[in-house]
Amino acid sequence: MEIRFLGHSAFELTDGATTVLIDPFLTGNPKAAATADEVSADAILLTHGHADHIGDTVAIAKRTGAEVLAIVEIANELSEEGLEKVHDPNLGGTVEFDWGWVKLVPAWHTSTTSKGTVSTPAGLLVNFAGKTIYHLGDTALFSDLELIARRAGEIDLALICIGGHYTMDRFDAVEAAKLIGAREVIPCHYDTFPPIETDAQAFKVDVEADTSSQVVVLAPGETHSP
Ligand code: NI
Ligand code: MN
Repeated sequence: MEIRFLGHSAFELTDGATTVLIDPFLTGNPKAAATADEVSADAILLTHGHADHIGDTVAIAKRTGAEVLAIVEIANELSEEGLEKVHDPNLGGTVEFDWGWVKLVPAWHTSTTSKGTVSTPAGLLVNFAGKTIYHLGDTALFSDLELIARRAGEIDLALICIGGHYTMDRFDAVEAAKLIGAREVIPCHYDTFPPIETDAQAFKVDVEADTSSQVVVLAPGETHSP
């Protein structure tokens, strides 16, 4: 499988047959590596309701017919906007797909959509092409990251926010990486806007000094095979 960083918190997972998008914020994203018109998707997975995560979900799902997964309150809002294939788990729930499964896990943040729907933010444990990928969503540092990771078994790849201001910063993110113990880590949610500028290379140095995780810093548009 291959993962492509689309900028900010958006990622594309592909195995040649299936494409899964996470948090496809492309329109209005100064770091977007693709436009909403050019990405393909069989499924779109959302961590929470903020505009920099829901992004172009409705437009992409209407164009591609992708299934969409979001926590129940956001799922209901998306259904009201005309999406038909919507999965609506809550925290702790697992949804099976033809290509794998997704489990919604806690994150410490807020989550109100631009339309005013209030919900709880989440992280996503994604099983895709035999790999376990943990997108932490937007979160502060919290100790249950360790429990979530332990229940998940070996995590091949963790996608960790490091930008600070709206989430944990790169120093707290090193502690998060320690708690999770993933084989590989890709940092995200930084450098998109001035308040979340940070030094991803310094994060890599710190994580690799303190853990056995390898950090892969991707520029928007770059891909990696976990
Ligand atoms: Ni957010
Ligand atoms: Mn965000």
